[in-house]
Amino acid sequence: MASQPNTRPKIRTRLTDLLGIEHPILCGGLMHLADANYVAAVVNAGTMGFISALTFPDPKQLQDEIQKCRDLSGGKSFGVNLYISPRQDANDRLEKLLTVVRDENVAVVETAGGNPGPIIPFMKEAGIKVIHKVPAVRFALSAERAGVDAISLVGAECGGHPGYMMVGSMVQAADGPQKLSVPVILGGGIGHGSQLTAALAMGCDGILMGTRMLVSSELQAHKDYKQRVAEGTGLDSIVVQSKLKNHHRVLDNQTAQAVLALENQGKETYEDYTHLLNGKLAKEAYTSGNTDQGLLDYGQSACFANAIESVETIITQFMDEAFTAKGRILKLDF
Ligand SMILES: Cc1cc2nc3c(=O)[nH]c(=O)nc-3n(C[C@H](O)[C@H](O)[C@H](O)COP(=O)(O)O)c2cc1C
Repeated sequence: MASQPNTRPKIRTRLTDLLGIEHPILCGGLMHLADANYVAAVVNAGTMGFISALTFPDPKQLQDEIQKCRDLSGGKSFGVNLYISPRQDANDRLEKLLTVVRDENVAVVETAGGNPGPIIPFMKEAGIKVIHKVPAVRFALSAERAGVDAISLVGAECGGHPGYMMVGSMVQAADGPQKLSVPVILGGGIGHGSQLTAALAMGCDGILMGTRMLVSSELQAHKDYKQRVAEGTGLDSIVVQSKLKNHHRVLDNQTAQAVLALENQGKETYEDYTHLLNGKLAKEAYTSGNTDQGLLDYGQSACFANAIESVETIITQFMDEAFTAKGRILKLDF
């Protein structure tokens, strides 16, 4: 059935202008999951998505994935997510991946993890826009000085890495725009359109989602995994690895409980946990649908993800909710 033309007015912000997108929405990088199919679906729905470079660690694989995404997204811009490890020795492959990103004319890069400063000149020279993702305004200020084009600020509710300071999204939303001059995108616990309206009211230029999108039909993951997310309440999201000062918000499952048990025993070195932190466990869970194993990034906004649906359906509903929230505010007449 042909979809109905969208008659809603557009929300224009510095973010939509910066990236040339219809909605002020980013769908963040998802390790093992954000591939060409998913990212193309996301950009075709009028938002911005990012292929997770580390999912395709061989530069040729990344190049193929970028080319596939270009074919699927009909010339629309899309992005690549680059995780910068705080450990310099873990960043050996970054340079080669970055070269592919430049040679393939990728429009925008979402950086996360360590300081993007050293690679900013390379990206600026290539005309790539850089959005750096941080868990606290303090890190955003140094990224802004280093020349990033925008900042994604994620709160403690987020799936993945909320940072050891665990600042909530409501605080980030009001604090970030006051202290930063580049566009600010709010993430962490976002999954309902009313939160976009609230974020804009607080001075943000857009929002970022990860967990809410895990039920997308275009995501290449086992249907049992998506069904588990759809049945999740968000209360089944817990933070592990705080003893390692690497706070990680994940689905509460056997692996997460095993990590917590070691933390309760006072284990404080990375080596004590290596067998549980292995990313292969998560990759297997996405493929097999067995969600008992692996640290599976998963945030509190799972409460909004209640059915497996297309990206287009999720985004359309989200924007409807944003406009409904705007209507509620206007009726208050203040
Ligand atoms: C399954 C999953 C995998 C993720 N993988 C990455 C990643 O590889 N790189 C990254 O920068 N962020 C990653 N994130 C974080 C998201 O890009 C986004 O910042 C976060 O999910 C936003 O918070 P929310 O989950 O509350 O929406 C991941 C999140 C999830 C849920």
